[in-house]
Amino acid sequence: MVHVPYKWVDGAVLGEHSKKKHQVLRRYISEYLNIRCSMPQQSRFRFAIIDGFAGAGAYQGGEPGSPLIFLELLLEQTQEINVRRTASGMAEIQFECLFIFNDLNRDAIEILKQNVSPFQNRCNQRHDLSAKISFMNEEFETAYPNIKKHLAALKLTRNVFFNLDQCGNSWVSRSTIVDILTTYQSSEVLLNFAAQSMFTYLSRNNPVALKKTLKQHGVDEQQVEEISRVASKREWRAAIEKLVFESYRRCGPYVSPFAINNPDGWLYWLLHFANEPKARQVYNDLLHENSGVQGHYGRSGLNMLTYDPSNEGQDYLFTDTDRQRAYEELFYDIPRVVSEFGDAVSIGDFIRGVSNETPSHSMDMAQAMIDNPDLSVRTENGGERRSASGIRSTDTLILKPQRSFLLMPPLKQ
Ligand SMILES: C[S@@+](CC[C@H](N)C(=O)[O-])C[C@H]1O[C@@H](n2cnc3c(N)ncnc32)[C@H](O)[C@@H]1O
Repeated sequence: MVHVPYKWVDGAVLGEHSKKKHQVLRRYISEYLNIRCSMPQQSRFRFAIIDGFAGAGAYQGGEPGSPLIFLELLLEQTQEINVRRTASGMAEIQFECLFIFNDLNRDAIEILKQNVSPFQNRCNQRHDLSAKISFMNEEFETAYPNIKKHLAALKLTRNVFFNLDQCGNSWVSRSTIVDILTTYQSSEVLLNFAAQSMFTYLSRNNPVALKKTLKQHGVDEQQVEEISRVASKREWRAAIEKLVFESYRRCGPYVSPFAINNPDGWLYWLLHFANEPKARQVYNDLLHENSGVQGHYGRSGLNMLTYDPSNEGQDYLFTDTDRQRAYEELFYDIPRVVSEFGDAVSIGDFIRGVSNETPSHSMDMAQAMIDNPDLSVRTENGGERRSASGIRSTDTLILKPQRSFLLMPPLKQ
């Protein structure tokens, strides 16, 4: 694949899709800190952020890059959390954070060191914050074993976030993602994957090259042969997209395969991998705040990657119309999933079972449970839960014995 190097020395230009990525990153990390620092008894929070493709930290015009976004957020958010906690009589949290910034480009790392320095000084002045910042200058895959050693030496075995903003789609192996998610408890990976550039180099007429490229993404030869019989180019492409999605989905228990559609047509996936369902849900919910640029193939209710030819290609774009469509599908889908468990399931188990299968906002899902006459949500004490915002993971979702006739899915002609 042709690889255009970033010109960090002259000042790199911040592209539209990177702005969107930064927006998602900002919101996600801010939620990440809020959620993980919400326990009243907590007094210490240790975490690590590894930016494997960090860049130089600043773009033309002074726009911050991902490392500075992380540092800015750390300074702002931790202060806000502690002010809030003190005001409500809770103990302050002592934040201990390790940052590892890696980039293959030496210039990028040297410029980054200068850009990071004022932030390190600001961290040093805070009594409630200890930030340790390390720099590496290697290919990410070569750096990864040393990153692991570094984390092990500091006994950082959980709360590890990897930002893998590769240019292209081939600089991070699937086995490394699996290794991260199985090594660290509460770990998350945000992977940039230039899907469009993968398609640019795929050709139906060159099966050898096709198999070789797709093998790298975990798609085996037999799967490639099976789709070679698909008639139209569009369907062939959709089939490949689905195979590659699914291959990456197998890397971790909770994966959000969403795409950023650039106005000029380049398509990027921003894949979020987590080993906890809550992280998946938070990421998914915040994508609704950035509607219009993301989409994904498949259905909008549950089982989003279950292909229905009549629905294929109808992207969920996180808009109000998509949310309404998803809400309607959830009406049929939720009772169906509950019946697969029997006639009752705890909300926690239900969410664990379906969160990989839907782009729906968690509030839409909760509202669909409350509004559905075939379902009842019961609290731990057995009382009826009446509001969507009150639903807890310890509640039970019950399928009523007499299903209403009106809510049966329409028969297919
Ligand atoms: C998209 S830019 C990173 C932008 C940065 N994350 C941000 O948001 O500001 C990708 C960076 O990856 C670096 N790079 C390319 N191949 C790499 C590799 N195999 N390992 C580590 N860094 C690499 C490039 O030098 C470039 O700075």
